[in-house]
Amino acid sequence: MEIKNYKNTSKQECQNITPEELFYQRRKFLKLGIGSLVATASVEQLLAQIGGESFMYRAMSKEEMIKINGQMLTNTPEEIATSYNNFYEFGYSKSDPKDKSKGFQARPWEISIEGEVEKPFKILVDGLLKKMSLVEKVYCFRCVEAWSMVIPWIGFELRELIDYVKPTKEAKFVRFTTLYDPKRFPMQGGFLGLNTSFLDFPYQESLRLDEANHPLTMLAVGMYGKKLLPQNGAPIRLVVPWKYGYKMIKSISKIEFLKEQPISTWEKENPKEYGFYGNVDPQVSHPRWSQASERVIGQGGGRTPTLYLNGYAKEVEHLYVGLDRAKLY
Ligand code: MTE
Repeated sequence: MEIKNYKNTSKQECQNITPEELFYQRRKFLKLGIGSLVATASVEQLLAQIGGESFMYRAMSKEEMIKINGQMLTNTPEEIATSYNNFYEFGYSKSDPKDKSKGFQARPWEISIEGEVEKPFKILVDGLLKKMSLVEKVYCFRCVEAWSMVIPWIGFELRELIDYVKPTKEAKFVRFTTLYDPKRFPMQGGFLGLNTSFLDFPYQESLRLDEANHPLTMLAVGMYGKKLLPQNGAPIRLVVPWKYGYKMIKSISKIEFLKEQPISTWEKENPKEYGFYGNVDPQVSHPRWSQASERVIGQGGGRTPTLYLNGYAKEVEHLYVGLDRAKLY
């Protein structure tokens, strides 16, 4: 399902405007008497002050936006980003995640930190957020299916969590696992009445520790100034803007630090088509389609050339020096 004829601006057409979200944040801050766009605050303060639906966070400045993205980006309309989704635990069509996640309870939500860390522990997501600094990061989002969006995420840099959990020297990889609970994620219990599922749930994704420690990598808990909706991976998901969307695992309940490179869900499912890295690369085609260009969702079918590492090469290409690009899909 694609919503057509929605007026949106492509990456190329972006203009120097203040995103609507920043305006709303500013109004909210002023209303609260805080008066600053650069304040950070804990979720506890936020919940106390604005009723729990939104976050207080350090909004992305125009300078930061241009430094990271190379240009000002215009957000994909929120209505589209929250209704055109991939979340196979709810179904296989783009409208299933929104339609079939109504009533999903994303709180309380426990995250288990395991593996090569000084001391494994479990923590409630809201408890964790009290320890992290919430920031906004507006990033381009590129799905392996050759469509793209621009999303204003709210979350914290994963490196902040890594510092907090203190991995041992043995840790070289980080693996994330989605909650396994067929009562809440119906497709985990099978489909078409069969006791078998299309993917080997729970969904898992992994990063090299240096990728995880990169400042662009974040764990998102919100978007468009609000808490994540179930269809977008509530209450917490991974965001790595230079990788294909399938790396950005949703509704995470376990984070493990590992010595060896693990196999992720899609790599296991179809190793010819999906690898460990999932780096966006216009020169490396998917076996069934080209990755040279992308359909900008909300543009009524308009296409734009895909950029190496989704436009973040300046920031991250040093991570892949000496590796064969053709093998980093
Ligand atoms: N995480 C889980 N647990 N299950 C999924 O099916 N789909 C992935 C990723 N994370 C998926 C997931 C894919 S293929 C994409 S493109 C993005 O989520 C889509 O994110 P969005 O729906 O917020 O755009």
